[in-house]
Amino acid sequence: MSGMSIEHPALVRLLRLAYSAEKAAAFAYIGHAGSVKDPDAKVAIRQIEMDEWGHREAVLSIMRQYDISVSKYNEVKYHIIGRIISISCYVIGWFMPYYFAGRLESGNVCEYFIMMRHFNDLGITEHDDVLYEMGIKEKEHEDYFRKSLENNRLLPLFERIFGWGKLSSFNDVDLENKFSVKASKAYCQHRK
Ligand SMILES: [Fe+2]
Ligand SMILES: [Fe+2]
Repeated sequence: MSGMSIEHPALVRLLRLAYSAEKAAAFAYIGHAGSVKDPDAKVAIRQIEMDEWGHREAVLSIMRQYDISVSKYNEVKYHIIGRIISISCYVIGWFMPYYFAGRLESGNVCEYFIMMRHFNDLGITEHDDVLYEMGIKEKEHEDYFRKSLENNRLLPLFERIFGWGKLSSFNDVDLENKFSVKASKAYCQHRK
């Protein structure tokens, strides 16, 4: 169903950004999976790539429902960013693609919980489950990269410089103690 439009510039901006950024992520993971040697890691990163394409589809279907157009500017920008990251995986070695993927995923977790809150502010709750699933999935991605890096000797240094690592995260989601969809509205209160 389409035709119903939403009056919420911040939410519209977030949806359009997420749609394109998911493409950049998927592209980056193609290079990432291609550049790692370990077969298990290849499989895991391919799965993450598929998750990102799924997120892009899910975001698009929400956008369609409210007649929100895809941003051509974001599409081009994130296409280029995704390709650059993808290629760079073959030249910068093992550590940095893992580190910056984990750091990026860490930031993405809250995007979906914030979208949920914006929708709820408009009285719309029908996307809660889908947005919750995507936020939790990004957290799983973050934890996968953190786990892969946790014993790396470079991690403490990078954590100090870039603010993400073994002890630091850009969200307050804990998969060991997951909140319900309803309670998940308490996540990411530090972000607006
Ligand atoms: Fe995603
Ligand atoms: Fe992700």
